[in-house]
Amino acid sequence: MVSILDIALFILPAYIANSSPVVLGGGTPLDLGKNFSDGRRILDNGKTIRGFVLGTLAGTLVGILIHTYYVSPFFTNQQTAYAGSFLLAFGTLLGDALGSFIKRRAGVEHGKPFLLDTFLFVVVALVLVYPLTIPGMLEVWILALVVGVTLILHPTFNIIANKLGLKKVAH
Ligand code: CTP
Ligand code: MG
Repeated sequence: MVSILDIALFILPAYIANSSPVVLGGGTPLDLGKNFSDGRRILDNGKTIRGFVLGTLAGTLVGILIHTYYVSPFFTNQQTAYAGSFLLAFGTLLGDALGSFIKRRAGVEHGKPFLLDTFLFVVVALVLVYPLTIPGMLEVWILALVVGVTLILHPTFNIIANKLGLKKVAH
């Protein structure tokens, strides 16, 4: 039986990867300040190289720590779990950047609320990690639960980050 704790520990690398750039990010933007063909920035200054790299690293490291001390029902062995943690973290930053790209094309400014922002990262993370998980283990209800909980948790953390003054742009 898969428990809620199993699911929480499985997805934690994605959440760490998504939240850590708020404090670890900054510096050169991923799009190098360039505009897209529509005249708007490709991604804008909210997506930085440092945030992408350190967010991926932080999520992966947390995953490695988790899977060193705990046996996950979603992976066949420790090595796969480590690789899975990387894919969850990397997929998160990839989905986050993709969300920004779509947001800019929709004409929504950097830092302004956008529904895709709240869950696209976890969808891309799940798509990347899926092939590494044991077939049949990541059932539909688990995927739906993770996306649903993310939809609720993301705005909650945004409010906390804003209150703590961690975010330069209000959401
Ligand atoms: N961040 C970063 N590098 C990334 C992702 C995030 O440096 N690859 C940092 C930025 O300081 C960013 C903050 O984390 O402002 C919050 O991230 P997010 O809410 O995803 O970005 P937004 O500021 O909302 O920008 P966008 O509108 O493009 O989503
Ligand atoms: Mg955002």
